[in-house]
Amino acid sequence: MLINNAGVFNSPINQTSEGFQHELVVNYFGPVFLTNLLLKREIGLKKVVNVTSSLAKYGSFFFDDLKGLQMEKKVRYRNSKLALTAFTNKIIEEYKDKDVEFMAVHPGLVVTKLGRNILPNWFSWVEIIILPLLLLLAKLPIEGAQSILYCIAEDCSSGYYGDSRRKEWPQFCDNKEAINKLYKETISLLSNF
Ligand SMILES: NC(=O)c1ccc[n+]([C@@H]2O[C@H](COP(=O)([O-])OP(=O)(O)OC[C@H]3O[C@@H](n4cnc5c(N)ncnc54)[C@H](OP(=O)(O)O)[C@@H]3O)[C@@H](O)[C@H]2O)c1
Repeated sequence: MLINNAGVFNSPINQTSEGFQHELVVNYFGPVFLTNLLLKREIGLKKVVNVTSSLAKYGSFFFDDLKGLQMEKKVRYRNSKLALTAFTNKIIEEYKDKDVEFMAVHPGLVVTKLGRNILPNWFSWVEIIILPLLLLLAKLPIEGAQSILYCIAEDCSSGYYGDSRRKEWPQFCDNKEAINKLYKETISLLSNF
C-alpha cells in the first residue's frame, strides 16, 4: 500500500534543483512519480491513497505552465491538488484490468502544521477574525486521519472519498479531455527523470 500524504501549503521554496515549482513537486509530481515507479516495479502494490483537498475544485488545469514556475503563489496549492485528484481519476482507468485500487481522499479541514507558511504573508485583521473561527470548525488530527484510515482499513474500491465514505468526484473530473492531456504531459515530463 502507498499513501501519498506529504503535502505543503504556501511553500516558501520557489524552485527545486530540477527546475520545478516546489509546491507542485511535493503535492503532485512527487506522488505521481513515486506511484508510477512502484507500479512499474510490480512489487504487488494493491492500494494507492492520494491525500487531496476539497480546495482542488477552485483550481485549474495548468498546461501552459506545467512546471509551475510562473504560477501565482495563491493558486499553487489548489492547482496541485486538482492535478493530484485528476491523476487519481485517470490512473483508475489506466489500471482498470489490474488488481490495484486508487483513491483520492479529502481529510477535511484539520488543525495541523500545514498552515505553518501562511501567517507571514497573509496575516491581516481579516485573518485575525477568521482564523479562530476556522480553528473552531476544524478537526483534530486524529479526526482528520479517519477518512484516510477508512480507505486503508475498509474494503474500499477505487474512487473519491471524504467524511469516511465514498463521494462523487469533483466536477472538474468530468473534463476527460483535460484530465487525459494533463496525464499525458505529466508522464512525458517525468520520463526525463
Ligand atoms: N490540514 C488540512 O486542513 C488539510 C486539508 C486538506 C488536505 N490536507 C492534506 O493532508 C496531507 C497532510 O497534511 P497535514 O495537514 O497533516 O499537514 P502537516 O502537518 O504539515 O503534514 C505534512 C507532512 O508532509 C511532509 N512533507 C512536506 N514537505 C515534504 C517534502 N518535501 N518531503 C517529504 N515530506 C514532506 C511533512 O514533513 P515534515 O513535517 O518533516 O516537513 C509532514 O509530515 C497533505 O497532503 C495536505 O495537503 C490537509
